[in-house]
Amino acid sequence: MDGGNHSVVSEFVFLGLTHSWEIQLVLMVFSSVLYVASMTGNILIVFSVTIDAHLHSPMYFFLANLSFIDLGACSVASPKMIYDLYREHKVISFGGCIAQIFFIHVVGGVEMVLLMAMAFDRYVAICKPLHYLTIMSQRVCILFTAAAWALGITHSVFQLAFVVNLPFCGPNVLDSFYCDLPRLLRLACTDTYRLEFIVFANNGVICFVSFFALLIGYIVILFTVWKYSSGGSSKALSTLSAHITVVLLVFVPIIFIYTWPHPNSQMDKFLALSDAVLTPFLNPVIYTFRNKEMKASMKRSVRRLVIFRKIS
Ligand SMILES: *[C@@H]1O[C@H](CO)[C@@H](O)[C@H](O)[C@H]1NC(C)=O
Repeated sequence: MDGGNHSVVSEFVFLGLTHSWEIQLVLMVFSSVLYVASMTGNILIVFSVTIDAHLHSPMYFFLANLSFIDLGACSVASPKMIYDLYREHKVISFGGCIAQIFFIHVVGGVEMVLLMAMAFDRYVAICKPLHYLTIMSQRVCILFTAAAWALGITHSVFQLAFVVNLPFCGPNVLDSFYCDLPRLLRLACTDTYRLEFIVFANNGVICFVSFFALLIGYIVILFTVWKYSSGGSSKALSTLSAHITVVLLVFVPIIFIYTWPHPNSQMDKFLALSDAVLTPFLNPVIYTFRNKEMKASMKRSVRRLVIFRKIS
């Protein structure tokens, strides 16, 4: 089973989320609405931050970067899933499957580093306010963004390097609505024990460690806010609660998917669904919900877009 032996499987079949026609219909409407809403919300954030000089600060730059990556996050699996809900026979080519895995992991890696950059930014702003401008210089922000992309792509390529040459010779049914590693590895006709360990280490452990690092970081920040609470602290608290909510939303499903020892198929799928359609939608909502500057800027952007359309 090595060398020039070609994989026999050229496409994979998805079982989808459920067999119930009614639930599929509900999911189709729900996912389509969320997809359009996430695309609109995230485009609006990127647009507002880019054109609005009031929002030219590291926090908003990272937020715009997060929204940009969320545009990718909601487009990797959900359009195909929505389209598949119409179809009896849901298939994806081998190449399509590998591409999905590649983009899911790039997006996940970038998102994780951006969340850390955002936490670091808040840490400096709150715990070292006098040095904020020197520490969070434009160069540092660009460095963080570049590191996010470099790490996301490296992480993804590193994993796929092990997977592309695996032999797939028999079963090709994935009990899911998108391709991802834990399920795909179980279909390979070879012993994937070591690979499963690499995937677990490369995803589960990294997520776990980053998640706890972020939580500890935010606890330190919250403690500082509480200790020196002054007039500005309620604004700081609402910003921090938004950040912490997004960290929980992003990490909890991923940690479950990659580290739960006995995957309960149905729960796994719904967590993945929430990661694919709900999180990219909730990120902009949570960040803008209690942020007056962002809300005002988004209103201005919408007005500008409307005027622009009337003129042209
Ligand atoms: C991402 O962050 C960088 C560095 O702060 C910034 O220059 C860039 O404009 C941001 N990208 C978007 C899409 O806002």
